[in-house]
Amino acid sequence: MNTSAGDSHTPVRVLIVVDSWQGHTARVAERFAEGVAGAGATPVTVAADAATRANLLSADALVMGSAVHQRGMTWKMKRFVDEVCELAWFYDDLVGKVGAVFTAGGGAGSAGGGAEAAQLGMLTNLAALGMVLVTLPKDTPGSEHGGIHWGPTIRTTTSAMEPIAPGDLAPEAMVAYFHHGANVARVAGRLRGLTLAAGNQLPTPEVRAGRASAERGTAANVRARHPADPARAQIHDDTALKD
Ligand SMILES: Cc1cc2nc3c(=O)[nH]c(=O)nc-3n(C[C@H](O)[C@H](O)[C@H](O)COP(=O)(O)O)c2cc1C
Repeated sequence: MNTSAGDSHTPVRVLIVVDSWQGHTARVAERFAEGVAGAGATPVTVAADAATRANLLSADALVMGSAVHQRGMTWKMKRFVDEVCELAWFYDDLVGKVGAVFTAGGGAGSAGGGAEAAQLGMLTNLAALGMVLVTLPKDTPGSEHGGIHWGPTIRTTTSAMEPIAPGDLAPEAMVAYFHHGANVARVAGRLRGLTLAAGNQLPTPEVRAGRASAERGTAANVRARHPADPARAQIHDDTALKD
């Protein structure tokens, strides 16, 4: 394992609890697990209807990956929350550990078919467990194709609602799962005092420079729109990226 400092004797374990009926969520869970392993941690993938409290106790991170059913997590995932996470909540098993989510859904229209609602539903449970939530920064590679703010998601049908085989899911979106896995592992390692291999890429200097000039443009726009309120534009100047 590529680590420094901290307790490096026991591996950083990332528990990935998955419910997949048609194979898509299982497929993206594999990519997620590859990202975890790529960062130097140990992925442990367990089906939602087989996950136990012992699985939780031995993990540094709990990741819930669910198919989107009726704009929410599947009933098996909810049962995992009700029956297993409930115990963890009662005994504070997961306080201070890392929590994260991902989904796969058939989707319809541009709103993701309820993937966001499903992810937020799972995240609220992880938050209630006292976990440190790792969401999906927009700088995560692949997030523009396979992600929302909370975690990676992918469409499993075409725009004509024809099913896409799990092996044919959009590779550019799959990238987000890999890097989210790496990021979760890295944060879980940090909380153990370890530094794992880098997962996410920082934005390039060009991207940062572009943002800085966009911020300046925003301040100029605010100044033009509110000439009698210079303090309003000053806020933008003060918060603009410096490099
Ligand atoms: C009972 C049921 C409800 C579903 N509801 C939704 C939904 O609300 N939104 C959505 O995007 N897809 C929905 N789907 C489609 C699934 O998300 C899609 O088939 C996805 O590929 C399932 O993931 P899996 O292959 O891991 O089972 C539903 C599928 C089933 C079987």
